[in-house]
Amino acid sequence: MTVQLTDEKGLLPDGAGALIENAARAALEAEGIFGAYACVTVVNGEEIRALNKSTRGVDAETDVLSFPQIRYPAQKTARDVPQMLKKAYDPDFGLAFLGDIVLNIARAEKQADELGHSAARETAYLTAHAMFHLLGYDHMTDEDKRLMRAMEKRAMKALGLFKNGDRLMTHEDYIRLAEQALDRSYSPYSHFRVGACLVSESGKCFQGANFENASFGATICAERCAVSCAVVQGERRFTKIYIACDSGYAWPCGICRQVLNEFKAGDMEIWAGSPVTEWKMLTLSQLLPEGFGPEDVSRTAEG
Ligand code: THU
Repeated sequence: MTVQLTDEKGLLPDGAGALIENAARAALEAEGIFGAYACVTVVNGEEIRALNKSTRGVDAETDVLSFPQIRYPAQKTARDVPQMLKKAYDPDFGLAFLGDIVLNIARAEKQADELGHSAARETAYLTAHAMFHLLGYDHMTDEDKRLMRAMEKRAMKALGLFKNGDRLMTHEDYIRLAEQALDRSYSPYSHFRVGACLVSESGKCFQGANFENASFGATICAERCAVSCAVVQGERRFTKIYIACDSGYAWPCGICRQVLNEFKAGDMEIWAGSPVTEWKMLTLSQLLPEGFGPEDVSRTAEG
């Protein structure tokens, strides 16, 4: 966890919570800080205006406000003062508490429109920007501003959400990534090549390819290869997967359907196709009707 999120009015669109978490983590990683968290509260225009007035004496709506917990010495940021992070340790979470961020999501959406990019990009940028304030960055002087922008850029790039640093990935981009993964298949025994591109709820994607073994049973399918890559990066909820194969359609095998069922976000879309065939979609509930999942395990005879 990097962010403790509060959205009492339910203002956040689907997937934005995961996006905020990822953006906050990308900012921390850019700074080289691990084991810290921030509280993010989502508010409307009126609420942030009142807060801006009471805390900064500015009677105006704004996009984001940050309230650092740590008072960094001049010209220093979190990575320079690990002892201050230790003092901010919160035993409840086992992490250092960096401070509060208050986010006006409607304003982020409006700004994205004005700037001609996606609401996701704006939300991620504002989160990263606010995190850097919590880490001791500022933009009062030109030099400070240059440093802060460079860090923001680094975090945004690492987020991997955006093509050309801006446009959100599209259906065609995911297909291309699945087809590209096909070329990395290690299938000397079956010569059946499969490539996958798994998409997480927060929009990140992970490639996978089948890799076989001289002991045939040790073979891993492309889908589970992609799931492994994603899980180790902290992703656990997936909205869709693209499966490319150059020997006809490769709908997931039974084991892979079961593994995908464990980590699905809603009814997962399973796309199958190849560089030479049309792409088709079936949902996981179509491929695995009445599937057995994590929620069933918690249901015991004792109740
Ligand atoms: N394979 C996959 O990668 N995904 C599937 O859903 C079906 C099968 C791979 C495993 C093995 O390397 C080859 O295809 C033949 O079974």
